[in-house]
Amino acid sequence: MPTPLVLGIETSCDETSAAVLRGETELLGHRILTQDVHEVYGGVVPELASRAHLRVIDHVIDSALAQAGVELRSLDAIGATAGPGLIGALLVGLTWAKAVAYAIGKPLVAVHHMEAHLFAASIDDPAARPPFVALLVSGGHTMLLWVPEWGRYQLLGETRDDAAGEAFDKVGKILGLGYPGGPAIERVAAQGDPKAYAFPRPMLAGNQRPGDPDYYDFSFSGLKTSVLNRVRHLEAEGRLEGEVPDLAASFQAAVVGVLVAKAMRAVEETGCRRVLIGGGVAASRPLRTAMADALGAGGELYYPAPRLATDNGAMIARAALFHLERGGPGDLAPLDVTARPDMPFPGLLRRC
Ligand code: KG4
Ligand code: ZN
Repeated sequence: MPTPLVLGIETSCDETSAAVLRGETELLGHRILTQDVHEVYGGVVPELASRAHLRVIDHVIDSALAQAGVELRSLDAIGATAGPGLIGALLVGLTWAKAVAYAIGKPLVAVHHMEAHLFAASIDDPAARPPFVALLVSGGHTMLLWVPEWGRYQLLGETRDDAAGEAFDKVGKILGLGYPGGPAIERVAAQGDPKAYAFPRPMLAGNQRPGDPDYYDFSFSGLKTSVLNRVRHLEAEGRLEGEVPDLAASFQAAVVGVLVAKAMRAVEETGCRRVLIGGGVAASRPLRTAMADALGAGGELYYPAPRLATDNGAMIARAALFHLERGGPGDLAPLDVTARPDMPFPGLLRRC
């Protein structure tokens, strides 16, 4: 069989994206349109997201196909994010994919958004393959996984409340830096002192042994409240403005410190010094640098280019290719697939 040509479609949140991927690494066409309607609200408004996806989806997909010089009927499969995500937003991409897959008589592959984030780095770097410890950090999820091979995922820990990216977004809003908070905090933090404020590093102290329930889990909501309280005090004293860079740098250092420490716990326990970071927060340079430092010369660190770290159609096409070639649960007949905000992570085992 010639190298498969897969169209990947992503509409789970506020990016409308489509990509044409040939085999595992040849990205022939790729378009990502980030919705700006949410900026004034400081967060994603689900109904506005659905409407914005509907307005642009045809154009985004046509444009990716044109860039690739590929016609619909040459595709071998269509992959679309089926979950998790905003239900109305998911429906737009998935319904498009379903209808077209049916019309051209090709398989539709339902893709789990977080599994796709695991594949993102491997598009540019084929060495970014299991086994590895994976830290998935996005606006909706924070997951620490042991990945012995593609398709087999052991969940070591996850967040008990806010996701890492969500914490960046909320603190960005508290500091008046706009949405999304992550890139804005990184920019402002570059002018600040990360040691200026001693914010808590949640779930690190006390529970130091593997097997303890908090050993691998995360919590960012208390840290966010701690920043909020500090901001209120500084505001009351009329000193907030000048402190924003130090606040941003200290908050960022706390999040990065927790993420790196937890990932290193997994490295120690598995004995595998290969780490992959995925999800929008993987675009954070301070996170990548701190993780590389912690791993040291004997370790290998993989992360996607910033464009492939945040939501994109290329990673959806890559994950779809995996399930297409393997067959099984991801490879569903077009009319069987519905959008599933709580879609199970295929192959995921909870640590017990
Ligand atoms: O994966 P993603 O694009 O969407 C979801 O699946 O949620 O992740 C978006 C998240 C946002 O919360 C955003 O603030 C965060 O990724 N992010 C960052 C950076 N760039 C994006 N967080 C920290 N530092 C960054 N440079
Ligand atoms: Zn994502």
